Amino acid sequence: MQVTDSLTKIWINWELKALVPVAGVLVVGVLAFAMVTLDLRADERHKVLLVATGGAAIICAATLVVLAVLIQWPLSELQAKIAQLRDGNLTVAVGFADRQDEIGELGRNFNEMVRQMRENQEEIQRLHRSQISRAEHLVTLGEVAAGLAHEVRNPLAGIAGVFEIIAAELSASSPSREVLDDARQELNNLNRFVSDLLSCARPKPPEFTPADINMTAEHAIRLARQQAGGLAGQIHFKRGKGLPLVEHDVSQINQVLLNLLLNATHEIDSGGEVRLDISHIGDEVVLSVADTGQGIVPEHLPHIFRPFFTTKGKGTGLGLSLARRVAEAHAGSIDVESTVGMGAKFTLRLPVRQPQPSADITGGELQIDRETSRR
Ligand SMILES: Nc1ncnc2c1ncn2[C@@H]1O[C@H](COP(=O)(O)OP(=O)(O)OP(=O)(O)O)[C@@H](O)[C@H]1O
Ligand SMILES: [Mg+2]
Repeated sequence: MQVTDSLTKIWINWELKALVPVAGVLVVGVLAFAMVTLDLRADERHKVLLVATGGAAIICAATLVVLAVLIQWPLSELQAKIAQLRDGNLTVAVGFADRQDEIGELGRNFNEMVRQMRENQEEIQRLHRSQISRAEHLVTLGEVAAGLAHEVRNPLAGIAGVFEIIAAELSASSPSREVLDDARQELNNLNRFVSDLLSCARPKPPEFTPADINMTAEHAIRLARQQAGGLAGQIHFKRGKGLPLVEHDVSQINQVLLNLLLNATHEIDSGGEVRLDISHIGDEVVLSVADTGQGIVPEHLPHIFRPFFTTKGKGTGLGLSLARRVAEAHAGSIDVESTVGMGAKFTLRLPVRQPQPSADITGGELQIDRETSRR
């Protein structure tokens, strides 16, 4: 086996390979000729053999020259062009492409391949340029949105306070109570939208504290029930048993769970249910939010985590993109499974302990934050 291996590795020049059979045939020819001339006189036989051997040598030399012109030169040119290509020169082309034989065909294929590579590279550069300018545009838009959201937040908190005072002064039987509840609900939605917009436009790095994830989830459940109106009783929660403390940003994970719970509640009617389950697997806690709604059609699945993708008239499409960003900033993940007509299940996985140093995305976000706060 080893002998075969080393034999296959021996480099034999192609001219030698081509010439050996030709030379072999010629030698056999000369020998045959020598046999035929056995009955000639010795001096005549020498002359004839000299002529035959000379002829064979000329044929070998001519074959070599022809092979060199037809094959060796184009191959050398091809090798040189491949070396230029490797150095990044995408304008190379071989000169033998107009030959009407297999070598010409090889040259045409090579030139075509280089042309396609050049086109692909131009396309990549064009996309890269347009993405950079899109990213710059988004950063500016993000800053505007963040500024706007920041300005709107304080008045919103003021209005919420006024609603609380009015609610305290209204009698329990007052017909205005229903209107006030609707207005508070709208205010909650507006507040969540502003919070999501602010978190998307100016993401804060998570502030990790070892905390009880059951309590974080319970808080989200309470908020979701408050906002679910008549469907509140259909939101179920299964606490995780024997969980360790989980290093997480309580407010960010609360926001993510609330978004998932509200999405799920939006999908069910009076016969359906929403479940938030927590379990502990290895070094992770797994939080799943499942509903018995209509599920997500396969065409929408690849887009639902993109910012501003929504199928709801009043939706912003920020909830899930924010959820994914927060999950990744926690070195975790969020995935979805859905069967149309049966419902959807979102699974958030978080490591119990944050890896050291914390995720890269945090560094990037910090830079953006410092950048904007300097202005
Ligand atoms: N539980 C779910 N069942 C079916 N579709 C869902 C579910 N959760 C999300 N989706 C789909 O994903 C889309 C994006 O959700 P996302 O939370 O990002 O935005 P939104 O809910 O539309 O808007 P907002 O969160 O601002 O109200 C939704 O519009 C909906 O089409
Ligand atoms: Mg949503």
